[in-house]
Amino acid sequence: VTAPLLVAVHVVAVVLWIGGVGFVTVVVFPMLMRMEDSLEAVLAFQRFEKKFSLHAKIYLWVTGVTGVLLLYLTGKYHILFRAETLGINVMMASWLFYFLVLTFEKRIFGRLFGRAKEIDTKKVFRLLNAFHWMILGLSLLAVFVGVWQGHGGRL
Ligand code: HEM
Repeated sequence: VTAPLLVAVHVVAVVLWIGGVGFVTVVVFPMLMRMEDSLEAVLAFQRFEKKFSLHAKIYLWVTGVTGVLLLYLTGKYHILFRAETLGINVMMASWLFYFLVLTFEKRIFGRLFGRAKEIDTKKVFRLLNAFHWMILGLSLLAVFVGVWQGHGGRL
């Protein structure tokens, strides 16, 4: 009874989380990169990211806790790091990535936008944009391989 319920909670959190990352990547970034005033763009970005980072932290923990419980309940921790659990490994890799970014976000953004007047904001946005596409790709791969393997897909 518990495992299917946990998968449902796990996936709802994943949908909100990765959906948000997708929105920022395909809607917010192109908008910011088209803004004339770069300082305004940086400030808008920081406001968006600050708000979303709280949401992301909640999703991170809901997904992480339900994921670990599922590993335990399904007994899949016995076969972790094998081809049969590739999906779960990609999930854990992307989880870890988000965990590191969200833990060190202040330092990362401080470095990137520290001296707002001196930096080339267009360059920073291009970098951040590439980074968002990369992490979105990894997250979607986790969803894809996770669902495929969870429903009988085999390598
Ligand atoms: C610490 C992190 C995580 C752990 C330990 C974990 C573990 C698991 C486990 C054990 C399942 C049950 C699937 C099965 O028994 O084959 C599952 C399902 C799922 N997970 Fe994760 N997960 C984590 C993070 C994530 C992340 C970050 C994503 C997406 C980016 C994700 C997406 C999914 C999806 C879509 C399913 C449903 C698969 C299905 O259709 O059955 N998980 N996860």
